[in-house]
Amino acid sequence: MILLKSTNGPACSILSYITKRLTLLIPPLVCLSLICTGSTFAQEKVQLSVDTSNLGARIDRNIFGQFAEHLGQGVYEGIWVGPDSKISNTRGIRNDVVSALKAIKVPNIRWPGGCFADEYHWRKAIGPQRVVTLNPNWGGVIEPNTFGTHEFLDFIEQIGADAYISVNVGSGTPQEAAEWLEYLTTPQQTTLAKERAANGHAAPYKIAYLGIGNESWDCGGNMTPEYYLSQLKIYSRFVRNFNPAQQDKQQMLKIAVGPGGGEERWTEWTEHIMKAWQNHQWSWDMNGLSMHNYTVVRWPPAFASVGFGETEYSQILKSTLDMESLIDKHSAIMDKYDPQKKIALIVDEWGAWYASLPGSHPGFLAQQNSMRDAILAALNLNIFARHADRVRGANIAQMINVLQAMILTDKDKMVLTPTYHVFKMYVPFQDASFLPVTFNAGSYTHGDITLPRIDAIAAKDSAGKLWLEITNVDPNNSVEMETSLNGINAKSARGETLTAPKVDSVNTFDAPNTVTTKPISVKIEGAKVTFKLEPKSVSVISVE
Ligand code: AHR
Repeated sequence: MILLKSTNGPACSILSYITKRLTLLIPPLVCLSLICTGSTFAQEKVQLSVDTSNLGARIDRNIFGQFAEHLGQGVYEGIWVGPDSKISNTRGIRNDVVSALKAIKVPNIRWPGGCFADEYHWRKAIGPQRVVTLNPNWGGVIEPNTFGTHEFLDFIEQIGADAYISVNVGSGTPQEAAEWLEYLTTPQQTTLAKERAANGHAAPYKIAYLGIGNESWDCGGNMTPEYYLSQLKIYSRFVRNFNPAQQDKQQMLKIAVGPGGGEERWTEWTEHIMKAWQNHQWSWDMNGLSMHNYTVVRWPPAFASVGFGETEYSQILKSTLDMESLIDKHSAIMDKYDPQKKIALIVDEWGAWYASLPGSHPGFLAQQNSMRDAILAALNLNIFARHADRVRGANIAQMINVLQAMILTDKDKMVLTPTYHVFKMYVPFQDASFLPVTFNAGSYTHGDITLPRIDAIAAKDSAGKLWLEITNVDPNNSVEMETSLNGINAKSARGETLTAPKVDSVNTFDAPNTVTTKPISVKIEGAKVTFKLEPKSVSVISVE
């Protein structure tokens, strides 16, 4: 239904009058498209209904995971400043960053890479004497190895996250990986356990996820699916987790390398690994298949991360929606060999990849983060939630100072990005149960690009509270929402929204709150909850 509303200001009143006259002569829809392109004049009332009786899959909190690679200023400067730094730190780890990450309840962090992981040798980064090496993947800079196993595990303990460690399959050996796992997890007094204790940690560590290689079809060793499968079987056999607390419950999940796109070579890859898993012997196993998918439009990344207009806004958002068909495609292959969905699809690298910031080191992948990225994050998180039965983990690339980051730092300064705010708003969805929603998304058109105007998900948390997320993709028009919650008599409702003046608005060290959240007014009218979405906004509403 199209509702015409007159709003503030004389210009609007005049337009409203003209429109009312025109509606007598031509249908309202035509009238709308002819005249009412401004944001304050005409608004559709979008009906959204939540099927509260139909609890779906649990939205695994691990879809809100992060990725921290030894790349640019992601680890050094972003996390690690060293114990002697003037920047406030705990055992070398920045306190400002820790407290910001605690607030978004980061469930797990994938480390040490990325491409870096397949050239990483863990022994060079433990103990008092660190081996200084190079980082050939990312600018060829010095890798001091001052942030190693113990520092990473200290960091995740400080923020309350789980460890997702990727072992080196590309240039390492099964023995090196197996010894790392023994060093990390055995409670018995082996030589490696004693070395761990001497380095400050007598108790075994908990490792929630273990990635067996990274992009082994490319930077991880240019392997064919056949060759990778043979490696997977060997590594999977020998990377044992000895931590007694992880034997029955909380078992370490082994994640195999999966696809990096939708092309034929990656559908073959998924087929090959999943088919082998279906008939696997007792002596090897896996629990997840990784998938990587960046929003880039075309390689090499050329879109600017700031200083762009609506054309680039709509192009990037169109491209990011490909995530849905990609997940559908690989899930369908997985369903063939694993109808019970035992193997999780873990989207452990995703996000926007733009041109490096002018003047920055091209190997450091530094980019700004705008309102567009907030919308992009919400759209992807909603896609993961809609596939919660199969997508049980995801890691945005990358957490600090690299690609689509949560946090940017410059020496002692720190700023939270629009993407950070989205992750904070979505905290209530962590481990909540998915609820189906029905709504008419409508459309937003710019040039030759047409996108769904609205996206939404709903979930119920363990306390029975209902949560709604609604994204208004349209950067020019607000939307009136009318939500019916079958079977629920709402007593109270509240919400917050994230929006900004422009599609490329960013937070900077000098102006850190240009893109930030504010309360949204939510009304309960009988069995309906109504609220207004601002243009280009991400909103989260709770109903009790
Ligand atoms: O996130 C940057 C890089 O992108 C990772 O190192 C690699 O896995 C991917 O190609």
